[in-house]
Amino acid sequence: MEIVIANKSHTKYAEIICETIAESAKVRGTGIAKRTPEYIATKMGNGNAVIALDGDVFAGFCYIELWGHGKFVANSGLIVHPNYRGKGLAKKIKHKVFEHSRTKFPDAKVFSITTGLAVMKLNSDLGYKPVTFSELTDDQTFWDGCQTCQNYDVLTRTNRKMCLCTGMLYDGKTKEKIESKKIKEKVFKRLKHIKETMFLKKAKKTKK
Ligand SMILES: CC(C)(COP(=O)(O)OP(=O)(O)OC[C@H]1O[C@@H](n2cnc3c(N)ncnc32)[C@H](O)[C@@H]1OP(=O)(O)O)[C@@H](O)C(=O)NCCC(=O)NCCS
Repeated sequence: MEIVIANKSHTKYAEIICETIAESAKVRGTGIAKRTPEYIATKMGNGNAVIALDGDVFAGFCYIELWGHGKFVANSGLIVHPNYRGKGLAKKIKHKVFEHSRTKFPDAKVFSITTGLAVMKLNSDLGYKPVTFSELTDDQTFWDGCQTCQNYDVLTRTNRKMCLCTGMLYDGKTKEKIESKKIKEKVFKRLKHIKETMFLKKAKKTKK
């Protein structure tokens, strides 16, 4: 199995990707933003997608979208062909597209809205946290994408505050801050321990 950043040469798979996404949404009976093969092909041409191929056979896909003038990045349209499910392929694709997003757009927060348990699990593993929609992009074009979802009435009824999807966010800056705080605490503990040990040794010597 080959999992690569897609390019123009993969355009021939755009049709089957859209078909597989639409078919899976029908089976799940959940809403989904519709994608056209042209849209998917553009993502491939811009190097903003990841594709998994078993030889020449399409196995999985996911793409990157930029919102709010690059403040946010979403990894959308995750799909694994039914023949390749349950083998950890989505996990590998998600890791690849996440890594690529962080490298290409390091200052952007990464977010996702989903009703899928598998995607929630994958996002959590990558360090996403569940958030309210108010924490996500306010880019109208992103939310317009929900118009083709069968649950769009819920989103409009709640003034875009909530819907059936769960919002999840990876904020690299917050994560960096937490990690740097953890490191500082560790160093402080270590120094405290050294100081205490030295003090005890000194106290023992003076006793002798
Ligand atoms: C969701 C989907 C991408 C998972 O692909 P996959 O290759 O079978 O997933 P993986 O084998 O990598 O599994 C990843 C994790 O999700 C879990 N998982 C997979 N399918 C699941 C499901 N239907 N329900 C609950 N959990 C599921 C796995 O147990 C695994 O969790 P673990 O790491 O704790 O063991 C695939 O079923 C699919 O394409 N579905 C239709 C499209 C879709 O729902 N896309 C998401 C849109 S938001």
